[in-house]
Amino acid sequence: MSNDPLFQPYRLKHLTLKNRLMISSHEPAYPEDGMPKDRYRAYHAERARAGVALTMTAGSASVARDSPPVFNNILAWKDEVVGWMKALTNECHDYGCAVMIQLTHLGRRTRWDKADWLPVVSAGHAREPSHKAFPKKAEDWDISRIIEDYADAAERMQAAGLDGIELQAYGHLMDQFWSPLTNDLDAPYGGSLENRLRFTFDTLRAIRERCGPDFIVGVRYTGDEDLPGGLTREDGLEISRRLKDSGMVDFLNVVKGHIDTDAGLTDVIPVQGMRSAPHLDFAGDIRAATQFPTFHAAKIQDVATARHAIASGKLDMVGMTRAHMADPHIVAKILRGEEDRIRPCVGANYCLDRIYQGGMALCLHNPATGRELEQPHVVGKADPPRRVVIVGAGPAGLEAARVAAERGHDVVVHEAANDPGGQVRLTAQTPRRAEMMQLIQWRFAECERMGVEFRFNSFADVESVQASSPDVVIIATGGLPHTDVLEAGNELVGSAWDILSGDVAPGENVLIYDDAGDYAALQAAEKIAANGARVEVMTRDRSIVPEVMAMSLTPSLRILQAQDVIFTVAWKLDGVAREGNKLVATIGSDYGGASRTREVDQVIVNHGTRPLDDLYFDLRPSSTNLGEVDYEALIAGTPQQVQRNPDGAYQLFRIGDAVAARNTHAAIYDALRLCKVL
Ligand SMILES: Cc1cc2nc3c(=O)[nH]c(=O)nc-3n(C[C@H](O)[C@H](O)[C@H](O)COP(=O)(O)O)c2cc1C
Ligand code: SF4
Repeated sequence: MSNDPLFQPYRLKHLTLKNRLMISSHEPAYPEDGMPKDRYRAYHAERARAGVALTMTAGSASVARDSPPVFNNILAWKDEVVGWMKALTNECHDYGCAVMIQLTHLGRRTRWDKADWLPVVSAGHAREPSHKAFPKKAEDWDISRIIEDYADAAERMQAAGLDGIELQAYGHLMDQFWSPLTNDLDAPYGGSLENRLRFTFDTLRAIRERCGPDFIVGVRYTGDEDLPGGLTREDGLEISRRLKDSGMVDFLNVVKGHIDTDAGLTDVIPVQGMRSAPHLDFAGDIRAATQFPTFHAAKIQDVATARHAIASGKLDMVGMTRAHMADPHIVAKILRGEEDRIRPCVGANYCLDRIYQGGMALCLHNPATGRELEQPHVVGKADPPRRVVIVGAGPAGLEAARVAAERGHDVVVHEAANDPGGQVRLTAQTPRRAEMMQLIQWRFAECERMGVEFRFNSFADVESVQASSPDVVIIATGGLPHTDVLEAGNELVGSAWDILSGDVAPGENVLIYDDAGDYAALQAAEKIAANGARVEVMTRDRSIVPEVMAMSLTPSLRILQAQDVIFTVAWKLDGVAREGNKLVATIGSDYGGASRTREVDQVIVNHGTRPLDDLYFDLRPSSTNLGEVDYEALIAGTPQQVQRNPDGAYQLFRIGDAVAARNTHAAIYDALRLCKVL
């Protein structure tokens, strides 16, 4: 590793970082009562143990009561945070991983109807489109108390033994002062660039007075808002120089863009199908202009790109944040010469999208992330090994096979198709979603490495399953689209899958009735509209595609709006009838009273799937547990021991959509929970 640019130690002030890989600040929304307790500590410790050099904890840890969390952030304004951060820091330090934290005041990027119901404060009255609060314009006493709040929070982190802090200045209060779009104040805090930066330098000065010159302090900031009237690239370069020249800052952590809308946020933190490392060159320009320690993260998902970022001198430390959520052991795998075994982040953005909906960050692809206290990233060997037969090589079946093989079991997988993948193969038909195939490829490669036997083109039945004399049978056959939901005319409609698979040719005037709210409707709309067809996507919900969350929706909406696809909410498809060579759709509403008809030439219904469960029910009578799952044991992580049939020959389970239509994470989680104790 001595020649690997990623493994050159980096000296930041007095601190030596053992390699060039860091986890940038990200709030996974794991705090309990605003504190980073055991779940939080275990999450960071897992990554520290595997060798990452620096973990920038929290994300937007709040320094003040009038900055209430928007996604369950750490409350850095409370003294009790010191003990929790100390425990986390000590454990990461034991593994040689440096620990810092991002501190912030959210300014207008929050809401007044949270926590203490204090007014939201900013440098002007401009409302942020995402959070929609109309802010109070800061008065002098707001400014001075918030500066003190920052200094107090920094002092708490120093007391907790952290190696340093960074201040957040993109989309939050600090850069709301910087940007001409959000700063309406008069001098001394408004007007010229110098005045707009005054709040930042006053804050830095207060922190330095409190924490001394040795404590490491950085700023994570936007160097170009990419917005008409906002901070330009030239402003960004000037700000970078001034931060350096102030002598109060130890590193620059560069971001490009604005986060006041979902679409803007998605350009800052790109998702699946968007360019890799789009802002790396920009960060490199800032490093070249300032010759100052420069950190950066934005869709640097693979080790080769990270290596390039360091080798080319664009960065000093490279953030691989979601990549570490997908695989906490990146550094350990590189060091073991197992780079090709890294579980790749597929950019699904389930992690980030969930926190904006009040959930905790979970990785679509790795159910142990965020659940380190309950779920293993690597499972131990079983004794004795057993014979496990799995039917279905979609995400659930492959995860079951992977985990069972890691346990040392003898595993056979039957798959009716030519290739592994199941539903994911359809998902990946849309080029923007092609990265999803890595979910399959990674699992398949792991299974092959561990000697799992795959039988493709094998339509398993009771005989072929029993011929293997299994100890355990796992049915992961998934489901098939269910469109039989109309009062009349079900035989006249197709499914979103029909369109995606190419089994049904797209029409020219198409109504898509989306009653599942997931990707399939969007992908079908995109494929149909690509031929110049008129497409309307209708839902009975109050909003469009609720299962596709904010940032994930951005690339789809960009395309669908350009294709003039129409979205209609709060209307419901009741029935379809044929009239000549046309179809007449009858449209009603859950709100009652209104009914319309519409003439189209094709109706597509998206209503999820129904389980493909025939084989499961055929296998049940000869099983020991009659298919029963002990949920208490499943949750507690202990072996399944249900005995319902003394004459049974094998344990039988079904997982994923073969039970009920859910998402990929649920399917993989079903498999991990069950198989880690087989
Ligand atoms: C769950 C989650 C929460 C995040 N929260 C923050 C945050 O509070 N502050 C911040 O500066 N960045 C936050 N980020 C952005 C990351 O620091 C990083 O910039 C982004 O994920 C792009 O890097 P990556 O492609 O390596 O993941 C968050 C990211 C994720 C996935
Ligand atoms: S949910 Fe998707 S984007 Fe987030 S870490 Fe997992 S694979 Fe990466």
